[in-house]
Amino acid sequence: MHLTSHTHTSSFATAFRSPAPAIRSAKKPRSSRISCVAAPPASRAPTDSSKKPMTNGHQDLAAAARNDAPFKTIIEPFRMKFVEVMKMTTREQRLKLLEEANYNLFKIPAEYCLIDLLTDSGTGSMSADQWAGLMQGDESYACARSWFKFKSAVEEVTGFCNIIPTHQGRAAERILFTTLGVKDKLVLSNTLFDTTRANAEFLGAECVDMPCKENEDPSTPAPFKGNIDLQALERRLEEDASKVACLVMTVTNNSGGGQPVAMANLKAAAALCRQHKVQFYLDACRFAENSYFVRDREPGYEGKSVKSIARELFSLADGATFSAKKDGLANTGGFLISNNEDLVQKATQLLIMTEGFPTYGGLTGRDLETIAVGLREVVKEDYLEYRIASTAFLGAGLAARGIPIVEPPGGHAVYIDATAFLPDVPRSAFPGHAVAVAFFVEGGVRSCEIGELMFGGEDPITGDERRPAGGLELCRMAIPRRVYTQSHMEYLLEVAERVVATKDTLKGFKVTKETPYLRHFSADLAPL
Ligand code: F0G
Repeated sequence: MHLTSHTHTSSFATAFRSPAPAIRSAKKPRSSRISCVAAPPASRAPTDSSKKPMTNGHQDLAAAARNDAPFKTIIEPFRMKFVEVMKMTTREQRLKLLEEANYNLFKIPAEYCLIDLLTDSGTGSMSADQWAGLMQGDESYACARSWFKFKSAVEEVTGFCNIIPTHQGRAAERILFTTLGVKDKLVLSNTLFDTTRANAEFLGAECVDMPCKENEDPSTPAPFKGNIDLQALERRLEEDASKVACLVMTVTNNSGGGQPVAMANLKAAAALCRQHKVQFYLDACRFAENSYFVRDREPGYEGKSVKSIARELFSLADGATFSAKKDGLANTGGFLISNNEDLVQKATQLLIMTEGFPTYGGLTGRDLETIAVGLREVVKEDYLEYRIASTAFLGAGLAARGIPIVEPPGGHAVYIDATAFLPDVPRSAFPGHAVAVAFFVEGGVRSCEIGELMFGGEDPITGDERRPAGGLELCRMAIPRRVYTQSHMEYLLEVAERVVATKDTLKGFKVTKETPYLRHFSADLAPL
């Protein structure tokens, strides 16, 4: 926004165009961009006088056309219509806020979080078209106009026509697992997100994460570290497929570093499920970001539209759960889709009992409108190019300042490898949380631990000590959609320098109070 061309050029664009060598960086020519010097239509062929070089008053048009190469600078493809004023705090105030919150960042009032990267969920900015949709919300109880708009957008983007609208993603998960009947069965996954796992476990399932081998090594980049380990999946299915309630593939793999899943991996997993008659669901919260990565990195998908890739992705599954708070570009909402008629019937009953009438579920008419618009905006290539480039910019900046990250940066977030950054802080002292707290202290940046605090502790069913999937100890900086500008990210990188400078003082935390499920949300902690 504010930047000189020099700084700007060396920023988003450079980070994006110099990915780790393992990743193909070929950028498509932006042939779909509208050119202001487009050739005249054939029906209006130039007359004799136009044999002279055409000009636009300033330059030769043919020469100008040659200059229509893509720019190195990838800009935020939006401008601001209104702004939210931020509150500045001092280091001393932030230390006091932390103490009052028992060192749990979820308990800090959001107005004191200058850059809030706690989550990318429901925190995005809506477009003018979404706000306009909100005003047109039809709040009729049954078969409201807004429902039909929502339904048509979901059908267009996913190809599914059985749609169960819910108030957010986790309600769709609860309804799915209840109707599938997961009690005493296995729920398999590349990696389940915490609420997904908690919903399945609460209903008596045993959850098994099987991330691919590349996922175990945070520092080595690979294009599709969100993949499932296909051999492990096959082994499980061959052992006893009748014990498996379903496979859930999380795209992108949030708990596994925000990494994408390859279409080839999804196809192979779907084939195994078909062979063993196991239901295959997507946790499709970030389907558009995953589809963009497929287009960018997977052979055979170059030049395809993100929308068509997304349709292919959904076509592999029996259904999906979705949180519109992510790639719905909305502040709330979600849905369950399925082609299993029996499941849909049961799910609809449960929806009526626990969420609402089937044509609004857990949502208002205006929510349905904003999601309908958001789903069509999120698959736009310009938006996704900026989105992925901005995450890559932050990741490259942190790495350049000596903060190890999960390589490559994910779609919606950068994950700091806390074990590598704080090797002397044992896992039992929550190094990921220590990093998150340090960023808040130094610059009011709120982020989120994904590791021992989130996934560890005692298993509420077996009583065993649990371990985070892949054993990773991470601090996640999730970037809200269309909210922060590049200068915010540059400020964050300066905060990172202060965190690096104070790193030897970080000793970790102990938990003083916790709950059996999802303890990270409410636990009290104390510094060691
Ligand atoms: N699945 C994934 C992969 C998620 O990332 C989330 C939420 C959900 C399901 C649940 O959706 O919040 O609408 O109920 N993730 C947020 C996050 C909370 O911060 O990553 P929800």
